[in-house]
Amino acid sequence: MRRFITAVSAAAFLLGAVAPSVVNASAQYPRGNGNISNGKDIYFNGKGDVPACASCHGQDGLGDDNLGTPRLAGQFAIFLRKQLEDYATDKRQDTTMFVMNANAKGLSPADRNDVATYLESIKVKNDGSAGSNLKELAANGVEVGLTHKGKSLVEFGQGNRAKPVPACRSCHGYNGRGAPPVYPRIGGQKYVYLVNQLKKWRDGSRTNDPRGQMQAVARNMTDEDIKNAAAYLTVASDYSSGNFFTPYDH
Ligand code: HEC
Ligand code: HEC
Repeated sequence: MRRFITAVSAAAFLLGAVAPSVVNASAQYPRGNGNISNGKDIYFNGKGDVPACASCHGQDGLGDDNLGTPRLAGQFAIFLRKQLEDYATDKRQDTTMFVMNANAKGLSPADRNDVATYLESIKVKNDGSAGSNLKELAANGVEVGLTHKGKSLVEFGQGNRAKPVPACRSCHGYNGRGAPPVYPRIGGQKYVYLVNQLKKWRDGSRTNDPRGQMQAVARNMTDEDIKNAAAYLTVASDYSSGNFFTPYDH
């Protein structure tokens, strides 16, 4: 009974924290409630002055290391919508290509919700194959970290030093598969984007994280930590061996 009450109050909290209109009662977490076909149209064709998202984020929505764009496909809609709102209100600055603030402002709030809903709906195989190809990156001269060291940081953190780093898992879930709606998927994200964002949290050029949580984490990360964590995360699978389900399967 006690467990039941806790579950109900947690659900009530979530419903209160995110507008009830975005909650699909049958989902295990609040999903996007926008118009998927309008979102898809914007993604592939753009709208007004806003160019097609696919031109930078890829036809498959998996991002592009050469451009430094993130994977958007299969990311949680509420998180994506928050990022688009943050760009539209300049709470977050795109300091990579300086395009996202204008792109977000060029869309209405409903359009932003629609494109976020479309992106969440894209099914991606999250077995570690959707992220970057580390060998190819290294061959192209990108400094790539060590996955085994990254794994240890992601799963356990590093407490044994003056500036401790918490386990990414404690907020972002197993292998960075996300803990919606607040904590985004970072597993299977593009390597270059992961490295860029961690540096931006660290140097204070990205500050749109609730309660400064990511800035506090990144401030204690060395360059090596950042490269190692990104290398592990980009190839991390949602599934632990023998378990073919995740709490968030679509
Ligand atoms: C000219 C290239 C370009 C186009 C076109 C573009 N983006 Fe982006 N987008 C970027 C870059 C670069 C970033 C990373 C910016 C940063 O570092 O903050 C980004 C970041 C984002 C993010 C943040 C994702 C995250 O995980 O935090 C979202 C959401 C996003 N774009 C959505 C869109 C949508 C929707 C469209 C189409 C309406 C679009 N983008 C069009 C280049 C582009
Ligand atoms: C205390 C909780 C917490 C911990 C621990 C944490 N994060 Fe985060 N992280 C967040 C939150 C919250 C956000 C979303 C911020 C926002 O809304 O823009 C985030 C966002 C991110 C992003 C940006 C994702 C995107 O798509 O834009 C990256 C990259 C990231 N975290 C990496 C890490 C790594 C690597 C670690 C471990 C070294 C870590 N995080 C540990 C809370 C945490």
